[in-house]
Amino acid sequence: MGLLIKGGEIVTADARFHGDIWIESETISAMGHDLPAPAGAEVIDATGKLVFPGFIDPHVHIHLPFMATFAKDTHATASKAALIGGTTTFIEMCCPSREEDALEGYNTWKQKAAGNSACDYAFHMAVTRWDEKTEAQLRQIVADGTTSFKIFLAYKNFFGVTDEEMFNTLKLGAELGVITTAHCENAELVGQLQQLFLAQGKTGPEWHEPSRPEAVEAEGTARFATFLEQTGAAGYVVHLSCAPALRAAVEAKLRGVKLHVESVLPHFLLDKTYAERAGVEGMKHVMSPPLRDKRNLAVLWSALEAGLIDTVGTDHCPFDVDQKLLGAKAFTQIPNGIPGIEDRVNLMYTYGVNRGSLDLHRFVDALSTQAAKLFGLFPRKGTIAVGSDADIVVYDTAYRGTISATTQHTNNDYNGFEGFAIEGRPSVVTVRGKVQVRDGTFVGEAGRGKMLRRATSREVSHAG
Ligand code: URP
Ligand code: ZN
Ligand code: ZN
Repeated sequence: MGLLIKGGEIVTADARFHGDIWIESETISAMGHDLPAPAGAEVIDATGKLVFPGFIDPHVHIHLPFMATFAKDTHATASKAALIGGTTTFIEMCCPSREEDALEGYNTWKQKAAGNSACDYAFHMAVTRWDEKTEAQLRQIVADGTTSFKIFLAYKNFFGVTDEEMFNTLKLGAELGVITTAHCENAELVGQLQQLFLAQGKTGPEWHEPSRPEAVEAEGTARFATFLEQTGAAGYVVHLSCAPALRAAVEAKLRGVKLHVESVLPHFLLDKTYAERAGVEGMKHVMSPPLRDKRNLAVLWSALEAGLIDTVGTDHCPFDVDQKLLGAKAFTQIPNGIPGIEDRVNLMYTYGVNRGSLDLHRFVDALSTQAAKLFGLFPRKGTIAVGSDADIVVYDTAYRGTISATTQHTNNDYNGFEGFAIEGRPSVVTVRGKVQVRDGTFVGEAGRGKMLRRATSREVSHAG
């Protein structure tokens, strides 16, 4: 058998050429020109199309008990939506609350995903408290191939950690060669500002952004960087949303701190006026850090092009309209999150590459290769090379469409990007050599996805 992808223009983070890809037993076994199709092989004609490595979403929430409810997707719905949009691997935040046992939480997340995901997946393990069991449990989880941690400087008393807990987590991360991802907002300031606004009768979604101002995110980013510096750990700021936080991150990078930066789809395309819309329309656009003043969008695009922002994720986090209405009386009760797993690749291609704001190689790098490198998956994932997993996206740049909740595959009744035009979409998507998507339709094997065991940075440097 085998699969031959013929005549496309192959684009990776650092190369672009016309050629054929021959796939056997889940991996790429040859690349070249005019490769012959052996008898029985399936042939995909990619003439006139771009051929990308499968995209990796480094930040999604699927199973998520949060703010008195649960995010809407299952691993089955989210993974199909991901694949239709060209994402062949996602890394989910495994987020037991402060009240839960970390190892039990980890096993719950693994069980939810096992056998249900159509694409490959991994986890970032959230550390939401530090007690006498935590260190041994985290060592066990890392030995299981989950080689990145997550901490929240926000969400006091739920997911949030104290500075002492952050220190302990980073110290262990440095010892094990495990990168720690962090949601960087000052929880105390957010809590105090929220109470001030509510006491003044300021209850609508338009007060969400003022309650978590840019300075609060910049402080969290700078503090995280200082703790990285003092522990020698590697870190990754998730969903960085604004210029002051970026400045704090870049200053740390310039000092030599091992700090990497992710920004997410909503912060490139939506500004705070979306959350200022009346009623539930505003609530649909409540996430944290919040959608920001418009002047930040151009800053994020330039920083992405320049490589100061390393990766683009989604922070996919679907809550439906009924759930958003839990916050009808107080913006502090609106479940935080905007979905995007299905739309990241097409929207970043359209509004980045096609509008001239994002180089095509940087697009591949930021949406695939960097995530693979930072999270111990490269070169198995994140590139097209002999020996790599055959996760391939044959991309049709001639496609024209419009984002709509009525046609999406994620399990939600709204789309935060409703009405946005898209110029391009995947025409074929493979996961380890199996065609899972054709032209917007899932045609594959529902439970094909595997949990990926990832390397620590120590294992990578010893292997290299
Ligand atoms: O608003 C957001 N970002 N919801 C998901 C939880 C988180 O902070 O990532
Ligand atoms: Zn977050
Ligand atoms: Zn998140």
